[in-house]
Amino acid sequence: MSPLLLLFLSSSTLLPYISAQLTPSPTYTPPTASAGLASSTSTPNTQWSNVLGNSLYFYDAQRSGRLNEGTYGNRVEWRNDSALQDGQDYNLDLTGGFYDAGDYIKATFPLTFTLFALAWGALTHGQGYDQAQQTAYLDGTLRWGYDWLIKAHPSDDVLFVQVGSGDVDNGYWGGDENIPTPRPAYPVNSSSPGTDAWSSAAAAFALGSMLYNPSLTYNLTSTSSPPTSPSLANSTYSSLLLSHARSLYSIANSTETKSTYYQTLGEEVSAYASSNWQDDLTLSALSLALATNQSSYYRDAYNGYVSYALSGMQQVWNWDSAIPAIYVMFAEIAVTRPGLALEVGLETNLTGWRNETEHYFDGIIEGNFKRFYLTKGGLLYIDGDSDEASLNPAMAIAMLMFRYAPIASSQEKTDQYNAFAHSQLEYMLGNNPMNAVYMVGSHPNSPQNPHSAPASGGTDLLHIRTSPPTEANILYGAMVGGPLANDRFWDWRDDWVQTEIALDYNAMIPTLAAMQLLNQTSDPYYVQVQAGTYSIPSGQPCDAALPCGGGLSKGAKAGIAIGVIFGVLFILAGILFWKRRKISHWWQKGYRR
Ligand SMILES: *[C@@H]1O[C@H](CO)[C@@H](O)[C@H](O)[C@H]1NC(C)=O
Ligand SMILES: *[C@@H]1O[C@H](CO)[C@@H](O)[C@H](O)[C@H]1NC(C)=O
Ligand SMILES: *[C@@H]1O[C@H](CO)[C@@H](O)[C@H](O)[C@H]1NC(C)=O
Ligand SMILES: *[C@@H]1O[C@H](CO)[C@@H](O)[C@H](O)[C@H]1NC(C)=O
Ligand SMILES: *[C@@H]1O[C@H](CO)[C@@H](O)[C@H](O)[C@H]1NC(C)=O
Ligand SMILES: *[C@@H]1O[C@H](CO)[C@@H](O)[C@H](O)[C@H]1NC(C)=O
Ligand SMILES: *[C@@H]1O[C@H](CO)[C@@H](O)[C@H](O)[C@H]1NC(C)=O
Ligand SMILES: *[C@@H]1O[C@H](CO)[C@@H](O)[C@H](O)[C@H]1NC(C)=O
Ligand SMILES: *[C@@H]1O[C@H](CO)[C@@H](O)[C@H](O)[C@H]1NC(C)=O
Repeated sequence: MSPLLLLFLSSSTLLPYISAQLTPSPTYTPPTASAGLASSTSTPNTQWSNVLGNSLYFYDAQRSGRLNEGTYGNRVEWRNDSALQDGQDYNLDLTGGFYDAGDYIKATFPLTFTLFALAWGALTHGQGYDQAQQTAYLDGTLRWGYDWLIKAHPSDDVLFVQVGSGDVDNGYWGGDENIPTPRPAYPVNSSSPGTDAWSSAAAAFALGSMLYNPSLTYNLTSTSSPPTSPSLANSTYSSLLLSHARSLYSIANSTETKSTYYQTLGEEVSAYASSNWQDDLTLSALSLALATNQSSYYRDAYNGYVSYALSGMQQVWNWDSAIPAIYVMFAEIAVTRPGLALEVGLETNLTGWRNETEHYFDGIIEGNFKRFYLTKGGLLYIDGDSDEASLNPAMAIAMLMFRYAPIASSQEKTDQYNAFAHSQLEYMLGNNPMNAVYMVGSHPNSPQNPHSAPASGGTDLLHIRTSPPTEANILYGAMVGGPLANDRFWDWRDDWVQTEIALDYNAMIPTLAAMQLLNQTSDPYYVQVQAGTYSIPSGQPCDAALPCGGGLSKGAKAGIAIGVIFGVLFILAGILFWKRRKISHWWQKGYRR
């Protein structure tokens, strides 16, 4: 039987009988780093499949709770069940979900950003997952996140925004068997609102519901594909996700007092203190418009865009800023769902949304934005946003450019955005002055010392860098924070600026890899990077993790500067007061003359 016929038969006859979630077949385990030296001649490209597979594997390593409860069990043999009391303080089961970064906090806000990015990417480039045979792992990863988010949203207005508090701040650096308790849970609700958290969760749920919706087509261009594997489709799950999206949006939109969850709850949840909620609320309305095809949501999104003055902003796309995603999604909707605007008396305005998006991208590429520039080595760097994890904003903008490129206003722009996005992806995967490949375990030049308590095997908070000398476990697929603005990278475990890993850092990598797979491009850059050509630079990094010059942070320096200015003013005022008679005498003399 021809493979095509077999495929046809299996998808048309067998699929309806497959029960529950997907089972990976074949199973995937990351290959050793030296595999990154082998050029792939196959289609789909083995190396890009590995980038995709490894970047999802990272999420397995971040899992909390009972690890065998997932759709395919636990792939990460060095991880254990953990944090099994989460939620007890509210008589709820809040076990599960993911640890946010290198310690054991579960933070909802960056999780929702991550799920949003994964789902949005898979919606248009899901067939890349199929080609890499990673769709079941995508399903497992998304469900692990969404299932927890569902538990964290036990009633319409209640959303738990964090479980656990800063371990390192509380003096814990160690394995997953002795995570300190109690691990308090932090809810927002209608009397203690969190408009940003509600909204961001609504947006993530909305896009998840689209991805699982069997009857949905989302045809961005003639070359992009509708939602990937028919096997991800599950109308029960899709409706469940949509109901959470609707109720969260409804609370966020209707609660009179709008506030960020950090403003409401304070220091305990300061790990992700977002600067505002307006962008999140707008993106959630837009996402719901897309997921439901209901123009009332579109009207809300448009009103938000106008009344919160979101136009022409020079922001990154990350957990704290949804604005660039809003531009791209408005442009997408103008292409895919022109009716949403028309039904509420607005114009589709594809020209306008293209202008908005291209003004943003062109500003970055042409260097017109104040805080945005390229490092000497070619990494997009944004002052104030890249300082504590440089690769994340560059990858996020690369993903936006790649997904927007096919609907740009001209072929020239399409080419420009693709080329710029490519340059960023290549930088991350080895085309940089350090010859470093910034994904753990992908190449001999990958970081060896990601700042991750469970992966490190260390227990000594005072000697994170050296104890143990070699990281105990390889955290395959984790993209680290990245180099500093001078392109240098210190692979030191205690330098969390450069070596920490996080859910949101990795959020774009699966999509970027899926895009490459669909495009049948050549190998990722790392294949041509010579092993052993990365070494730790001399000197000191001087970043927020390991500051130089007496260890003063920017804030402390600013504090001192302000202190000095006030001191001088105070002394001047004193002199003026002391000599007031003389001064008044001089003044009157001068005046009279
Ligand atoms: C669909 O999802 C629901 C909810 O997670 C699950 O219980 C059910 O087994 C799934 N059905 C299929 C056919 O995958
Ligand atoms: C998981 O448990 C094993 C056995 O107790 C232990 O050796 C290992 O360090 C634990 N893993 C982590 C990440 O702490
Ligand atoms: C509402 O949120 C506040 C702040 O987190 C919390 O103290 C309170 O217990 C919550 N109320 C309910 C009913 O969950
Ligand atoms: C998407 O739409 C275009 C034109 O509107 C059509 O040519 C193409 O076949 C569609 N693609 C898919 C995968 O449905
Ligand atoms: C959101 O709130 C606004 C202002 O109260 C209201 O006009 C609008 O109908 C609400 N949107 C939805 C979808 O309910
Ligand atoms: C959205 O709704 C409009 C009319 O209300 C309809 O014409 C269109 O086909 C719908 N699109 C989708 C994808 O459901
Ligand atoms: C294009 O967008 C930019 C940024 O929002 C704006 O300043 C400019 O006026 C727009 N141009 C047109 C022709 O609408
Ligand atoms: C279309 O978009 C442009 C640029 O963003 C904007 O200036 C203009 O007001 C929009 N027009 C309408 C009718 O929405
Ligand atoms: C797809 O291929 C085109 C043509 O080679 C290229 O310009 C573009 O950058 C590629 N797109 C992606 C997402 O890699």
